[in-house]
Amino acid sequence: MKVTVVGAGAVGASCAEYIAIKDFASEVVLLDIKEGFAEGKAMDLMQTASLNGFDTKITGVTSDYSKTAGSDICVITSGIPRKPGMTREELIGINAGIVKDVSSNLVKHSPDTIIIVVSNPMDTMAYLVHKTSGLPKNRIIGMGGALDSARFKYRLAEALGAPISDVDGMVIGGHSDTGMVPLTRLATRNSVPVSKFISEERLNQVKEDTKVGGATLTKLLGTSAWYAPGAAVSALVQAIACDQKKMFPCSVMLDGQYGLKDICIGAPVILGRNGVEEIVEIELNDAEKAHIQESAAGVRKTNDLLEL
Ligand code: 2OP
Repeated sequence: MKVTVVGAGAVGASCAEYIAIKDFASEVVLLDIKEGFAEGKAMDLMQTASLNGFDTKITGVTSDYSKTAGSDICVITSGIPRKPGMTREELIGINAGIVKDVSSNLVKHSPDTIIIVVSNPMDTMAYLVHKTSGLPKNRIIGMGGALDSARFKYRLAEALGAPISDVDGMVIGGHSDTGMVPLTRLATRNSVPVSKFISEERLNQVKEDTKVGGATLTKLLGTSAWYAPGAAVSALVQAIACDQKKMFPCSVMLDGQYGLKDICIGAPVILGRNGVEEIVEIELNDAEKAHIQESAAGVRKTNDLLEL
């Protein structure tokens, strides 16, 4: 199992590290355009192998996509991260060109690959890869909902005073500060609806804190977060690599599901060795349906900025 991660910045390197520690891949290629940067990160990570107990081989390369040839899964994290006060959508001017070039180079050397898009504005970047890479739609996955759901569970556990292992919840919709739809109605504490333990007012606070989870960290860190994004990507990579048939909310191209067509937005999907193996349509109430439609309108507005 060969995995390529493009972008050796904080998110890409964290993703490579978590993949290596989980030890399900034979090789991870870390690629960056900055001379020596990916090579240095890869060497540093390989020097943790005896300490963290993994045999995955991590190699770094500067701009040479031939070294990514034959990758089963490719992760695109390249582009600029947001600064405090910025929205993810403001990154489109720079990141769209980068993501288009990166995906084209990846597919040239790995025509059978599955691509996971992380670069922001992620839903629109995933849509761009659909429109320009030539890959079938089951092999293009946007990572946002897995991260947002992890943040949702963190906030739910905080509100419940419960261990995170007791909490389950999912966020669908756009990966944006205003477009996320945390499904509080379906969230559970060990199979019991969380509404039994916390008030609607507190649940609404959990929802709002989840939606700005990325912006909250960007304000604290001065740049985008990386540990949870890297971990979320590694979970998707593992589900595909190990054919886990695991369900995650991912940004996928919809073709009528949730009443939406020709848009990439967060929806529950089953991930396996073929990438998106099923898009799951769950029953939403009227408020949730309205939120998804509003979220889609926001994503389409950003998509319209692409010069396709
Ligand atoms: C985040 O929400 C980088 O979009 C990513 O942290």
